Amino acid sequence: MEDLIVELGERSYPIIIQKGLIDKTGSEINKIYQGKKIFILTDKNVNYHYGDRVKESLIKSGYEVKLMALEPGEETKAFSTLPVVYNELLDFKLTRSDLIITLGGGVIGDLGGFVAATFLRGVSFVQMPTSLLAQVDSSVGGKVAVDLERGKNLVGSFYHPKLVLIDPEVLETLSERFFRDGMAEVIKYGCIKDKDFFYFLKGLKNKEEVMHNIEMIIHKCCFIKKCVVENDEKDTGERMLLNFGHTLGHAIETYYNFKKFTHGEAVAIGMYEISKIAEKKNLTAKGVSKEIKEILEQYILPYEVEIADSSAILDTIALDKKNIDNVLKVVLLKEIGESYLEKTNVEFFKN
Ligand code: GLY
Repeated sequence: MEDLIVELGERSYPIIIQKGLIDKTGSEINKIYQGKKIFILTDKNVNYHYGDRVKESLIKSGYEVKLMALEPGEETKAFSTLPVVYNELLDFKLTRSDLIITLGGGVIGDLGGFVAATFLRGVSFVQMPTSLLAQVDSSVGGKVAVDLERGKNLVGSFYHPKLVLIDPEVLETLSERFFRDGMAEVIKYGCIKDKDFFYFLKGLKNKEEVMHNIEMIIHKCCFIKKCVVENDEKDTGERMLLNFGHTLGHAIETYYNFKKFTHGEAVAIGMYEISKIAEKKNLTAKGVSKEIKEILEQYILPYEVEIADSSAILDTIALDKKNIDNVLKVVLLKEIGESYLEKTNVEFFKN
């Protein structure tokens, strides 16, 4: 699979997607980093499966390595975790010219990226995403953040990695639920940018066929994402299209206190529901929501939810940071593969 380059001038970086890459970490890092020390940030689950393999590969290439494994789960992405990690970095005497590797899903990538952006005013880092969601979305594009008690991702920055290393083989140890979670974002790319890709995904019969094509699938998603990021790095225009299904999705996640649905599941419901509403308003071509419902069912993802108190969802949308002076930009599909931003308000969802 051909490497991708996120073209951002002097901050450009490659994305390498290759089965078995995890055991070649040392030689890949060697191409971009000639220093000595490397700090790996991971979680305990990922460490159990891949920590030693990554570490050994780096040690074989001559690096001095320290690995820190945090508890898995969103709670770890708390602002309060930061000093714990900074202290480990200080104990390891990591300097500004050394390297941090984030080995894990979105929590580790976002947290570790934020640590890299802020420790000593910025240390280079490499993303090694191990969940499908992180491989197709959060590891690319430089969004790094931690959560505050009052909300997710409230403190963060745009800070790009020097390299993204994606080994699709690590998905073999991902749970079914979190594989499907990532598939929701994969389907999203087809919806917003690529009709052929959407129907290609629709044509795959089972997980075996998905895994047979997984390098190409991840490559396609990263290609779409990198093009969008190149056009709108700071998320003021085109990049917002990546939020298709997310306005309602975030509100559903928040309503259930992030316990009932994964991010991808909530986005799946959001993509279907917003398309159904937009169809009724003639803002989306007829039949689009049916196509989305069918593909979500095929990938065993939810597409609707009964919420007794729908006003709570509307209140959450009203509080969304994208709702500015009651102007809410929502992402709609003209048709499958073609998305646009529509300026509306929270009334849009009263249906
Ligand atoms: N996950 C959406 C973005 O990176 O902009």
